[in-house]
Amino acid sequence: MDKERIVQESYNRLGKSYQDTRLKVKNIDELKRFTELIPQKGKILDAGCGTGLPTTRYLIENGYEVIGIDFSDEMLRLAKENVPDAVFIKQNIIDLDFPDNFFDGLISLYVIIHISREKHRGLFQQFHEILKPGGILLVTMGSMELEETGEFLGEEMYWSHYNPKTSLKLIEESGFSIIEEWFTSYNWFSEDEKHYWILAKNND
Ligand SMILES: C[S@@+](CC[C@H](N)C(=O)[O-])C[C@H]1O[C@@H](n2cnc3c(N)ncnc32)[C@H](O)[C@@H]1O
Repeated sequence: MDKERIVQESYNRLGKSYQDTRLKVKNIDELKRFTELIPQKGKILDAGCGTGLPTTRYLIENGYEVIGIDFSDEMLRLAKENVPDAVFIKQNIIDLDFPDNFFDGLISLYVIIHISREKHRGLFQQFHEILKPGGILLVTMGSMELEETGEFLGEEMYWSHYNPKTSLKLIEESGFSIIEEWFTSYNWFSEDEKHYWILAKNND
């Protein structure tokens, strides 16, 4: 099966069971680092929002206007229930449909790792276009080079990413200045799971 379909169908089946494990880590420190750089009441895209917890809800509770997109019907169904004040749209993040210079912030946590890495450059270029000049980007990327299909919470899953240095370079070359980058490590979905975070500012 097409890799994208594997990811989409597995998240359709996972829904609540993903959410239950996800909520063991709330990422409040990381979310604060992002929002403190975004003007009050700014417009934020949560790209690959999942069930809206914890990210979309945190952003709404802090007064932002939030649009969440995801390609899984079940994740979106839960997101609408969890965060009724946000707007949720079914959309594939590799084919974004928003005007240029539209968002003050764009956050995408644990999503790009599921997208074929050949598409990462094009994705960051789209992020650059839909963010306003000076807009803030926060993404998690892989902590090492990987391209594989495996098992995740009992479902088939696909991961694809470059090493951190390459991810950083792709973001810079797509029109961003790096503010900060760091690693997190959790005993979460799997033991000693590492993620690479990049906080960046859109160039003019
Ligand atoms: C690991 S979950 C992360 C969800 C949420 N960002 C979070 O932090 O919990 C990955 C999410 O990305 C979505 N996703 C993966 N690839 C996508 C794509 N190409 N377009 C839209 N959503 C996608 C999945 O449906 C799933 O909801």
